[in-house]
Amino acid sequence: MQISPLTEGEYLRWSGLLAERLGIIVPKERKMFLQSKIWSRMREIGYQDYDKYWDYINSGIEGNLEWSQLVDRLTVHETSFFRHAPSFELVEEDLNDKILKAKETLRYKIWSVSCATGEEAYSLALLAQYICLKNEKKSYFGVTATDVSAPAVALAKQAYYSIDKLANIDQKLHNGIETVNHEMFTIKDGIKKRMAFGVFNLLDVNKPSNIKYDVIYCQNVLMYFDKSVREQILDGLVEHLNRDGLLVLGQTEINFWSHPKMQRVNKNRTLAFRLS
Ligand SMILES: C[S@@+](CC[C@H](N)C(=O)[O-])C[C@H]1O[C@@H](n2cnc3c(N)ncnc32)[C@H](O)[C@@H]1O
Repeated sequence: MQISPLTEGEYLRWSGLLAERLGIIVPKERKMFLQSKIWSRMREIGYQDYDKYWDYINSGIEGNLEWSQLVDRLTVHETSFFRHAPSFELVEEDLNDKILKAKETLRYKIWSVSCATGEEAYSLALLAQYICLKNEKKSYFGVTATDVSAPAVALAKQAYYSIDKLANIDQKLHNGIETVNHEMFTIKDGIKKRMAFGVFNLLDVNKPSNIKYDVIYCQNVLMYFDKSVREQILDGLVEHLNRDGLLVLGQTEINFWSHPKMQRVNKNRTLAFRLS
């Protein structure tokens, strides 16, 4: 069956829903993207009418489950292990420094806020494990990995990756991984035990929580939101940081953001802030 074009009104309605529920802006130039993603999902489950699918999406629990499937289609999950080396160096330096300064056993907490299929979160965990083991002083780490896409989080939890992705992981960290067969590898249980996964919408970041992190790693996600939403999210993330905590952003994530409690970290090719 031929794709049914989204009318102007339908485009406004669907893009409005995305902006409201996810903060994601789909500009007019990307109308075809929106149309093809919604249409292909509709076809999969036997819908041919945007209005009827709209009603389904907005119909209680079943609608919520379907919404999470659609979210998965509408979000981009492109990611890789150790995607931005200088940002990982920054975390390495920070953890080494905090172990050195710790007066009692350090429990270092990291949050990967849009973990997609898990590569970013496991990169942080592999690195933290390596540093904690190498140091004589006892220290622990934990990584919380969240994303708005439930299917992506489910894949992250499973932690099966194609063997060609190993090339991005430094040899010194390979004792944290385990080959499954000649095509796949996984993460060792000792590291998996230090991970917590959850579905989380960054638009909810301002809801109160008692958990505080030493590092909040937020990369390649803010660009989907408009500037005021980005700023609200960043202001919200600050409240989830421990004293001296690091907020590590993607280099092009935002321009001209400042916060009275945060100081820009001076490290080449990174965009990071520290809670003072
Ligand atoms: C391009 S991936 C980035 C993955 C990883 N952070 C990295 O840099 O490799 C963007 C991720 O942001 C997630 N995302 C989009 N909107 C979100 C929201 N409102 N809250 C949380 N995550 C969101 C998507 O589901 C997707 O997995």
